[in-house]
Amino acid sequence: MKNIVILISGRGSNMQALLEAQLPCRIAAVISNRADAEGLDIAKEHGVSTAVVSHRDYADRGSFDIALTKAIDAYRPDFVVLAGFMRILTADFVAHYRGRLVNIHPSLLPSYGGLNTHARALHDGVKIHGCTVHFVTPDLDHGPIIIQAAVPVLYHDTEQTLAARVLNEEHRIYPQAMRWLCKGQIELNESGKVVFHNRKQTSHTLFSPGLE
Ligand code: GRF
Repeated sequence: MKNIVILISGRGSNMQALLEAQLPCRIAAVISNRADAEGLDIAKEHGVSTAVVSHRDYADRGSFDIALTKAIDAYRPDFVVLAGFMRILTADFVAHYRGRLVNIHPSLLPSYGGLNTHARALHDGVKIHGCTVHFVTPDLDHGPIIIQAAVPVLYHDTEQTLAARVLNEEHRIYPQAMRWLCKGQIELNESGKVVFHNRKQTSHTLFSPGLE
């Protein structure tokens, strides 16, 4: 059975969705860069080991990433799962976990990488928004895409209502992506493409607003 380590910085709702999804893997630990991350308590309630590696204890990004790598590798994970982990990682860290490091981002990448994704989507008036699970590469929020979910942007949406609609889908697609990975149904190949093994594909059209 594969082993995974989840990294968080705060609320931990994606982590919780993963812990409750009965994934075909062992969740070896949850590691936070903040001692006050609410997600740490949720992990403990689920009986999962937790650890804190505070970025404040290190002089620079490089030394923090080395300490973080050490803490992660103590659990010998097959995959490292970023779930609301709010630190930019060094190229060395990312290279160390090539093909094993995944992230969830609250937009339909490559649109709206970075922060404040829902406010920016509302400002631009896009009609479809969503979330993405992707392999992490040194190019921030631009790694090879594993799965996306799209939601409509409704006329009266606020940043909060849109964020809640997207978050609901995050909680569905992250467990799906991890299920595929842990069962060996997808992988990142040498050329940096996501390969699906034996998956049937269906074609649909998404409209928002719907057609009449
Ligand atoms: C999520 O929207 C995730 O996509 C983004 O940060 C947020 C974390 O939320 N990277 P949570 O800590 O999982 O509740």
